[in-house]
Amino acid sequence: MSRPTRVLVTGAGGQVGLDLVDVLRGLTPLGGDATFQPDGRFVANDEFEVLGLTRHDLDVTDRDAVTRSLRFARPDVIVHLAAYTAVDRAEENAAACFEVNEQGTESMSLAASEVGAHFIAISTDYVFDGTKGSAYVEYDEPHPLSVYGASKRQGELRCSSRDTIVRTSWVVGVRGKNVIHVIADRALSGANVRFVDDQTGTLSAASDLARALATLVRERPSGTWHVANSGATTWFEVAAYVGSLLNRGEEFATPISTSELSPAPLAVRPQRSDLDTEKFASSWAPLPVWRDAVARLVVDRARREDVAR
Ligand SMILES: NC(=O)c1ccc[n+]([C@@H]2O[C@H](COP(=O)([O-])OP(=O)(O)OC[C@H]3O[C@@H](n4cnc5c(N)ncnc54)[C@H](OP(=O)(O)O)[C@@H]3O)[C@@H](O)[C@H]2O)c1
Repeated sequence: MSRPTRVLVTGAGGQVGLDLVDVLRGLTPLGGDATFQPDGRFVANDEFEVLGLTRHDLDVTDRDAVTRSLRFARPDVIVHLAAYTAVDRAEENAAACFEVNEQGTESMSLAASEVGAHFIAISTDYVFDGTKGSAYVEYDEPHPLSVYGASKRQGELRCSSRDTIVRTSWVVGVRGKNVIHVIADRALSGANVRFVDDQTGTLSAASDLARALATLVRERPSGTWHVANSGATTWFEVAAYVGSLLNRGEEFATPISTSELSPAPLAVRPQRSDLDTEKFASSWAPLPVWRDAVARLVVDRARREDVAR
């Protein structure tokens, strides 16, 4: 019998990390779809040996610690999720952001290569400037508008040609702070919301993304892959849909333009950065449509609250 594939996950305490560790252990995370696995092969609970590292376990900006940890753990595959993800705060903390997203990724990729592990790095739609006018494919030229986007692009460039780079976007999980919780809390409290309808993107449920990552852990392809739920949307459309799931009327969500946001966000976001996911979909399967993913999140976050009460 072959031994389990040993997978080391950085950023394991973040919203994608929590769901990925569950999926690799053969579990379905809250908000997940138990019937979905892109390559059609479900994960057995002994297929992977998972080492999930939080920032407390391994600070990826500490190059010596990175090398030591990987030499000790001897993983077959590394999924590098750890990142400086505060997009607006990054505008005033560029050095700290680049230290994690560029230098941290470079250290991880180099150490992965040294111990013979396949390296999977996660990047973002914010490497694009949003001016293309249609969905971005993997070979479109990046041109980031923000410090965060620029730091993630530099992280991509520090990876080796053998590595896998996964660009994803607008990540939402049951666990973790994200816009779905803000919208649902407002809907349940009887308040209304205003969301922008002039920024288009692709939503990614952390649980579905985690299933796609499990497929990539098995297949270990090199190069860049766009992974997100199917269908482009806007935050206004998402808010209106969450409102409808929670029995709120049309008055719940009002569309506004980015220029109406007050205070204005520090970081400039691309106006249209939806990811074309055809390369992943035609190799395995498309991720579920974003409305399915949001409906699962709304149902399962309520379950989580029931348990908490
Ligand atoms: N969230 C999105 O909308 C989105 C969109 C596109 C791409 N992505 C990418 O997807 C990946 C996962 O994102 P996520 O949503 O799961 O983010 P997240 O919830 O913010 O998780 C990121 C994790 O990285 C950890 N971290 C930060 N600095 C670190 C360091 N120096 N060493 C080790 N760990 C460190 C954080 O720990 P602390 O909590 O202790 O700081 C956090 O647990 C990231 O690479 C992100 O750039 C996210």
